[in-house]
Amino acid sequence: MTILKLLSVFFLQLLCVHVFLFDGTNAQSLRVGFYNSTCPSFEEIVRNTTARLISRAPSLAPALLRMHFHDCFVRGCDGSVLINSTSGNQAEKDAIPNQSLRGFQVIDAVKTAVENICPSLVSCADILALVARDAVTLMNGPSWRVPLGRRDGRVSRSSEALANLPPPSANITQLKASFRSKGLSDRELAILSGGHTIGISHCSSISNRLYNFTGQGDTDPSLDPNYVVHLKRKCSPTDTTSIIEMDPGSARTFDTSYYTLVRKRRGLFEADAALLNDNATRNYVLRQANSGGSNFFNDFAASMVKMGRIGVITGNRGEIRRICSAIN
Ligand code: HEM
Ligand SMILES: *[C@@H]1O[C@H](CO)[C@@H](O)[C@H](O)[C@H]1NC(C)=O
Ligand SMILES: *[C@@H]1O[C@H](CO)[C@@H](O)[C@H](O)[C@H]1NC(C)=O
Ligand SMILES: *[C@@H]1O[C@H](CO)[C@@H](O)[C@H](O)[C@H]1NC(C)=O
Ligand SMILES: *[C@@H]1O[C@H](CO)[C@@H](O)[C@H](O)[C@H]1NC(C)=O
Ligand SMILES: *[C@@H]1O[C@H](CO)[C@@H](O)[C@H](O)[C@H]1NC(C)=O
Ligand SMILES: *[C@@H]1O[C@H](CO)[C@@H](O)[C@H](O)[C@H]1NC(C)=O
Ligand SMILES: *[C@@H]1O[C@H](CO)[C@@H](O)[C@H](O)[C@H]1NC(C)=O
Repeated sequence: MTILKLLSVFFLQLLCVHVFLFDGTNAQSLRVGFYNSTCPSFEEIVRNTTARLISRAPSLAPALLRMHFHDCFVRGCDGSVLINSTSGNQAEKDAIPNQSLRGFQVIDAVKTAVENICPSLVSCADILALVARDAVTLMNGPSWRVPLGRRDGRVSRSSEALANLPPPSANITQLKASFRSKGLSDRELAILSGGHTIGISHCSSISNRLYNFTGQGDTDPSLDPNYVVHLKRKCSPTDTTSIIEMDPGSARTFDTSYYTLVRKRRGLFEADAALLNDNATRNYVLRQANSGGSNFFNDFAASMVKMGRIGVITGNRGEIRRICSAIN
C-alpha cells in the first residue's frame, strides 16, 4: 500500500512538472540573439529608430520603460498592452483610469522599420522589450542583453489591467503580493521601483495623498512636510492635467537619486514611500541611497531580464502581429 502510495505521488509529481513546463510560461526558451540568423540587423534597427525618435522627444523614454512593465504584468510580456480597443472589446490601453501610457507611436515606427526588412518575423512583444532597454540606456542607464523569442498574444482586456497593476496608493503588503504573484521577490520590487528615477506623473496620481489622504482633507503624514509645500504649489486639489517630475532635477537621467528621495520621505507615491515599511525593501533603498548604488545598474538589468520573462508565450503559440495595435 505504501509503495502504491509512493508510486502515485511520484507520478503525480511527474505530471505536475510536465504541466508546469508546458504551460504558457515558456520563459526558459527565450534566447539572446533569437533573430541572429533570421534577421541579423534587427537589434540595430530597433536601436537606431528608437534613438532617432527619442532624441526628438526625450520625454518618451520613461514612458516606454513603463509600457514594458505594464505589458509584462498583464497577461505576461505578450504585447497585449499595444492592442487598440475594438467595438466589441475594451483593451488594456483603455483601462479606466487609463494608465496614461505614452509612446505607442514609437513602437509603431520601430515595427514599421523592422517589417520593412524582416516581414512577419519579429513580435511586437520583443520589440517592446528591446525598446524599453534602449530607452533606459539612452537616459544614461545600464544596458543589458535581452532574451528574445516572445510571441504576441491575441487578447487584451482592460479589466485585467486594473486587476494586475498596483495603484500608486498601494501599501507594502499589496506591492509584495503583486510582485510575488509575478514571480518577483521583495528585493526585485525595490530594484524595479527604481524605474521611477526617470519620468513624470500626473497630479491626479497624488492628489489624494496631498489633499484627502484619509478622506478628511488631510495629507499623508509619511511625506516630508517641506516637500508637501512644494508639491501643493505644483498640483492644486482639482488639477488633473498638470504633470510633475518623479525625480525632480534628474528626471531624464537614469541614476540612484530615486532612492535618495525615498529615504528623505520624498518618494512621490505611497507605493514609493512604502518601500521603507519592510526590512528587505528598506535595506535596499538605504544601501543605494548611502553608497551611491554601485550595484544598482547590474541589479536593474538583471531584474528587467527577469520581468521580461513573465508569462511569455513562445514556439508556435500566439502570433507575430503585423501591426502592433491590432491582432492579425
Ligand atoms: C511598484 C509598483 C508601481 C506603481 C504603483 C507605479 C505607479 C506609477 C504611476 C502612478 C505613475 C505615474 C502615471 C501618471 O500619472 O502619468 C508611474 C510612472 C512611471 N512608472 Fe511606475 N509604478 C510601479 C512600478 C514601476 C516599474 C516596475 C517600472 C519600470 C521598471 C515603472 C516605471 C515607471 C516610469 C518610467 C514612469 C514614468 C512614465 C512617464 O514618464 O510617462 N514603474 N508609475
Ligand atoms: C547571437 O549573437 C550574439 C552576439 O554575437 C551571441 O552572443 C549570441 O549567443 C547569439 N545567439 C544565438 C542564439 O545564436
Ligand atoms: C544605425 O546607425 C548607424 C550609425 O548612424 C549606421 O552606421 C548604421 O548603418 C545604422 N544601421 C541600420 C541597420 O540602419
Ligand atoms: C488616455 O486618455 C487620454 C485623455 O482622454 C488620452 O489623451 C490618451 O491618449 C489616452 N491614452 C491611451 C493610452 O489610450
Ligand atoms: C494594505 O492594504 C490592504 C487593502 O487596502 C489592507 O487590507 C491592509 O491592512 C493594508 N496593510 C498594511 C500593512 O497597511
Ligand atoms: C475626500 O474623501 C472623502 C471620502 O472618500 C469624500 O467623501 C470627499 O468628497 C473627498 N473630498 C474631496 C475634496 O475630494
Ligand atoms: C527588521 O530589521 C530590524 C533592524 O535591523 C530588526 O530588529 C528586525 O527584527 C527586523 N524584522 C524582521 C521581521 O526581520
Ligand atoms: C490604434 O489607435 C491609434 C491611436 O488612436 C491609431 O493611430 C492607430 O492607427 C490604431 N491602429 C489601428 C490598427 O487601427
